[in-house]
Amino acid sequence: MKKAFVKSYGCQMNAYDAARMADVLGAEGFTATDSVEEADVVVLNTCHIREKAAEKVYSELGRLRVLKSERQARGLDTRIVVAGCVAQAEGAEIQARQPAVDVVVGPQSYHRLPDLLARSRERRVVDTDFPVEDKFTHLPRRRTSGPTAFLTVQEGCDKFCAFCVVPYTRGAEVSRPVAAVLAEAEKLAQGGTREVTLIGQNVNGYHGLGPDGAPVGLADLIRAVAKIPGLARIRYTTSHPNDFDEALVRAHAEVPALMPYLHLPVQSGSDRILAAMNRKHTGDQYRRLIDRVRAARPDTALSSDFIVGFPGETDADFADTLRLVRDIGFESAFSFKYSPRPGTPAAERSDMVSESVMAERLAELQALLDAQRYAYQRAAVGQVFDVLVEKAGRRPGQVAGKTPHLLAVQFDAPLHHIGTIVPVRIVEAGTNSLFGQLATEAVAA
Ligand code: 5AD
Ligand code: SF4
Repeated sequence: MKKAFVKSYGCQMNAYDAARMADVLGAEGFTATDSVEEADVVVLNTCHIREKAAEKVYSELGRLRVLKSERQARGLDTRIVVAGCVAQAEGAEIQARQPAVDVVVGPQSYHRLPDLLARSRERRVVDTDFPVEDKFTHLPRRRTSGPTAFLTVQEGCDKFCAFCVVPYTRGAEVSRPVAAVLAEAEKLAQGGTREVTLIGQNVNGYHGLGPDGAPVGLADLIRAVAKIPGLARIRYTTSHPNDFDEALVRAHAEVPALMPYLHLPVQSGSDRILAAMNRKHTGDQYRRLIDRVRAARPDTALSSDFIVGFPGETDADFADTLRLVRDIGFESAFSFKYSPRPGTPAAERSDMVSESVMAERLAELQALLDAQRYAYQRAAVGQVFDVLVEKAGRRPGQVAGKTPHLLAVQFDAPLHHIGTIVPVRIVEAGTNSLFGQLATEAVAA
């Protein structure tokens, strides 16, 4: 039996793509392995969003080169595939930097993986086209579906934030037709999936073709997915404030399966920096949007992304970011130092913020966000939540799952609870996870 090792870096769409690549290879007779040493094909599904993420690939490839020659000495062939956004951005350069790489394949072409692998026996191949054929229609059926699953509904981004490579690596916004999304969601539900997260680089820019040929927005897509028997929970990510229409706000109020959690990146709280980032919204517009979502569904937990040290960011600009964080109150958030990316407008700027100032600002922002996260977790203690049980827990006898607000909970229960939704009383807040007990009472509506 041939074996494939697939490793993914970066965002949830990359995780989805990696799972689909495993399916493509599975249909070709490969079994999945967690051990890179025994793999006949190694796929690195890479991320280009920040320099650190992109550089990681080259150090990993250095190790793989050694592994490949060791296996070769034992008469074993190893194919090394670089997929994802570094593949798209750097193409043939990757093979120039690391000759052990056999295949470079971009995010829009991975359905061609079997063909590319076959061709790589003759010579090394690069495929970073944006093909006209729809990759989704060429992908084999999903082989596994757990209690939770990602489902790509939209790819690409037309927003062109000044710092971001995504519009270049993932291309223009494309939405999958409603029927294709529903068919995939139904299959997942039949396989036992209880929660789907609809994913897209700009997911609320979704405008897939509906049954009557007219485009359908994300809110109506969510309403359609909510009707599928067996699917109890719907989430979506990542959205942009400017595409957040009233219909989506109403969906948060009216669709019980839509979970009270929203990841809505704001990047900065300074209007000057937001303008320089080409975000096309202000801090107050973001605050007002959050007010509307909270009016629709008061217990919505909020999450966001922040960049510190965008070129030209002053102490006053950074203070505006801290003020926005205090005003809103986030359950969780991701924050990053600005990383100049080749080909993006911001990378041309000469007014870079020094590394030491970036490091100070990041530490200060993260301390504030951590404090908000702990406060949120502590406030959960004593409450009962519906928990979707996803897997075995860290300790024997424990299972692990998530609350509607995406808080991770561990509690004692037999493994047959996996895939069910049960009421759990939270008894303790740890650093990354809550601890609970199966509750006898149901959650108050
Ligand atoms: N530098 C730092 N962070 C970035 N992000 C995107 N591009 C960059 C960059 N050049 C962050 C943004 C985005 C998240 C996915 O990554 O916050 O929302
Ligand atoms: Fe990048 Fe901005 Fe598009 Fe998000 S909205 S993917 S940050 S360009």
